[in-house]
Amino acid sequence: MNPHLPTHVKIIDVGPRDGLQNEKQPVSAEVKIGLVHRLQAAGLKEIEVTSYVSPKWVPQMADNHAVMSGITRQPGVLYSVLTPNLKGYEAAALDKPDEIVVFGAASEAFSQKNINCSIAESIERFAPVVEVALAAGIRVRGAMSCTVGCPYEGEVDPERVAYLAGLMKGIGVQRVDVADTIGVGTPRQVRAAFEAALRHFDIDHVCGHFHDTYGQALSNTLAALELGVWNFQSSVAGLGGCPYAKGATGNVATEDVVYMLHGMGIDTGIDLDALVDTGAWISEQLGRPTGSRVGRALLAKRASAVCA
Ligand code: HMG
Ligand code: MG
Repeated sequence: MNPHLPTHVKIIDVGPRDGLQNEKQPVSAEVKIGLVHRLQAAGLKEIEVTSYVSPKWVPQMADNHAVMSGITRQPGVLYSVLTPNLKGYEAAALDKPDEIVVFGAASEAFSQKNINCSIAESIERFAPVVEVALAAGIRVRGAMSCTVGCPYEGEVDPERVAYLAGLMKGIGVQRVDVADTIGVGTPRQVRAAFEAALRHFDIDHVCGHFHDTYGQALSNTLAALELGVWNFQSSVAGLGGCPYAKGATGNVATEDVVYMLHGMGIDTGIDLDALVDTGAWISEQLGRPTGSRVGRALLAKRASAVCA
């Protein structure tokens, strides 16, 4: 066995936020709350709940307060939310998240499209947010988009990732997500992106965030695991996509990651059956089949066991 492989992995389900932010049909706050409750009951210890961004830019997250104030929190679960600026932070702080997420990009073009400013300007906006959050005892994560590929600039040099990670570290961000926003990366590229981030953050403070557009997310997860990375983000049922990354599909499905990890003897603390039920439930709410391969397989297996 690879000596770097972790024995335990922590998964952050980002389905309620990344998964639903780009959903075209209305999704009620009640359904979003129901999703959070089901995820925590399935054993998720970290859930990215919503974002405090402009409702004109991302209408689906306009109910952030209703969702955050409507969930019944479970002790031991960390609830995070996205805050792009002080205005977002101030609204979020009223809802008492455990962690806020500032989100930047390794590519200039994506930074402009997603948050309407350059990378340098984004860091200037994030700095006071990080400062007040830390002073209030709220943890701070930094999402780094486009660490291997950008929908506008193409392949992204790992040096750009190191540059952004260094800027994030400089303003006090405690841990970073190495994100493949459009799911184009392959294992060697993902490895290089992590090695760049690891110049500024230690292995316990980097997290993998892979969209699965090209079907590479599990391979990329394995590549990161082999570096010793043990924090990953995924979306139940493979929900999602970023509104500013056209054509990019959802995050890798949490069910698929959990199945792979359990099959490798790596503990997650997650009940796969309950997770599959959660994926089936939210897919039913959205009126489409689950995007999880493992979810589909296990649901089919259950159905055939009932028929037999
Ligand atoms: P802006 O237009 O540059 O900001 O937007 P502004 O300061 O000029 O304000 C313009 C208007 O927005 C004003 O309202 C502000 O009050 C309002 P108006 O006077 O026109 O009525 N406003 C806000 N409203 C609510 N909450 C706020 C807020 N800030 C300003 N926080 C801004 C800048 C960042 C706000 C905008 O570009 C925005 O909201 N972008 C949305 C970005 C987003 O949510 N993207 C998806 C999440 S990132 C992602 O999915 C990637 C990730 O998953 C990792 C990966 O996969 O790569 C994390
Ligand atoms: Mg994402």
